[in-house]
Amino acid sequence: MSKGACLYPGSFDPVTNGHLDIIRRAAAVFDRVVVGVLVNADKRPSFTMEERVGMIRTVCRDLPNVEAVPFSGLTAELCRKLDIRVLVRGVRGAADLDAELRMARVNALLLPGLETVYFGAKGELEAVSSSLVRELAALGGDLTPFVPGEILEQVRAGFRKE
Ligand code: PNS
Repeated sequence: MSKGACLYPGSFDPVTNGHLDIIRRAAAVFDRVVVGVLVNADKRPSFTMEERVGMIRTVCRDLPNVEAVPFSGLTAELCRKLDIRVLVRGVRGAADLDAELRMARVNALLLPGLETVYFGAKGELEAVSSSLVRELAALGGDLTPFVPGEILEQVRAGFRKE
């Protein structure tokens, strides 16, 4: 088992500057960061699995210890399969914490020894979320502060064709 590996799971619909900050900081702490992109999200995602994974790969091009993989089913199962014992999650504030702590407890019950570590969002990224990006994109708002530059056009285009 590699103690230096972590899994950062989420929907990433689409990946935001907030996610990218967490990925960068995790990549500085862990030897290997696997970004797990959930296939069977409850809601119909705005971007396909290929698009969501592709966007993460694009924005993480300069991070050699980061990889993006699609997954379905339980996050704890993916950890078991990859032999990973640390989950990474970002928290933007107190409002995120209850649900995050509950998720961590469930995951630790499903896979004993699975730890969840939290990275607090940096001040200016506290308000950034995929749902905010989707809303702004649909309404034609400026996405520049919220989405990495390399995928800006792809995110805009994704909403223009709807
Ligand atoms: O960042 P998100 O989109 O809120 O991510 C939520 C995610 C994907 C981490 C969570 O829904 C998840 O782990 N889903 C997989 C199903 C699972 O393992 N459920 C039990 C843990 S609560």
